[in-house]
Amino acid sequence: MSFEEKTSRSLGELLAEGGSVEGLYSELRACFDLEKSNASSGEQLKQLRDRWLGRKNGLLSAANDHWLKAAPRELKPQVGRLQNESKRYLESALADAKTQLATAQQTQQHIDITLPGPPREIGACHPVRLVNEEVWSIFRGLGYSIAEGPEIETFYNNFEALNFPEDHPAVDEMDTIFIEDRTVLRTHTSPNQIRIMKDREPPLRYLVPGKVYRHDTPDSTHTPMFHQIEGFAVGENITFTDLKGTLDYFSKQFFGPDTKTRFRPSFFPFTEPSAEVDVSCPFCSGKGCRTCKDTGYIEVLGCGMIDPEVFRHVGYDPERYSGFAFGFGIDRFAMLKYHIDDIQLLFQGDVRFLRQFR
Ligand code: DAH
Repeated sequence: MSFEEKTSRSLGELLAEGGSVEGLYSELRACFDLEKSNASSGEQLKQLRDRWLGRKNGLLSAANDHWLKAAPRELKPQVGRLQNESKRYLESALADAKTQLATAQQTQQHIDITLPGPPREIGACHPVRLVNEEVWSIFRGLGYSIAEGPEIETFYNNFEALNFPEDHPAVDEMDTIFIEDRTVLRTHTSPNQIRIMKDREPPLRYLVPGKVYRHDTPDSTHTPMFHQIEGFAVGENITFTDLKGTLDYFSKQFFGPDTKTRFRPSFFPFTEPSAEVDVSCPFCSGKGCRTCKDTGYIEVLGCGMIDPEVFRHVGYDPERYSGFAFGFGIDRFAMLKYHIDDIQLLFQGDVRFLRQFR
């Protein structure tokens, strides 16, 4: 029996043949579902709607006339409920089918398979890395090689070979993180001077970037781990003028061609003489601003001529060789370059911050 036939017969007859009200309505819905699954165009969906929900000749309205209206009084509530539920079911199924069809058509229209795919995000370079690479490339241009050393360092390389006196405050446990009695997390990248000089013969020009560690309370300019770059050159007849020329050239390359440098006398155990270098403030060109605290200059690094004592520790003849060394904090350079006012931002791993550096 086709479904048209069923809805044209009275409920009484159908029940007498052994059917149930529930069974009839679930059969109705199953029939509808089957037909719906075959409808694949807007036109077919419209036909499906007319056939099932049409006001005059729709199958549901036939069921209304022949089943509900003809139902014996005691069955009326049940038939009425199922009739209503089925109507809602058909309506919402048709609405869903319509939306699905529209989305499918839209997607089809918008896919142009000849276009290249959407670019995949591959992450961004960390600002510390960006600054490192810029510095490396400037010094590579001057003939420097890039080397690395271990973060866990001997007390000897970190201090003694660099001519630190025993009672130097940096050796104090407040600054140095000890791993064992004679082993520390390096507090600076300078021990790489020792490692490289012990290993090789002059002439040498090296740049050594890396992480360093100190017992520091975190604030907007301090972290217990930060990044430094150590640079040094050793050979015959290397003078303070070479040091000045090198760092002046570097500052102009990094901070801009109009940058001026200023060398102030200072002290480091491993260099003699020692100096601290200021560059004219790249933000106000030396006029005075918040970043340079109205001084027109910013301190950027420490440097000096390698102390003869250091040469003795690595077995070089201080009468024959001379050299210079310099060291600076790369995080600070990144902060200056990108106007970052809190060093903590560099190490919190917040993608919203990191994404900006492409
Ligand atoms: N190692 C020093 C520090 O961490 C920085 C430094 C100063 C490095 C002078 C040098 C230098 O090579 O010559 O504070």
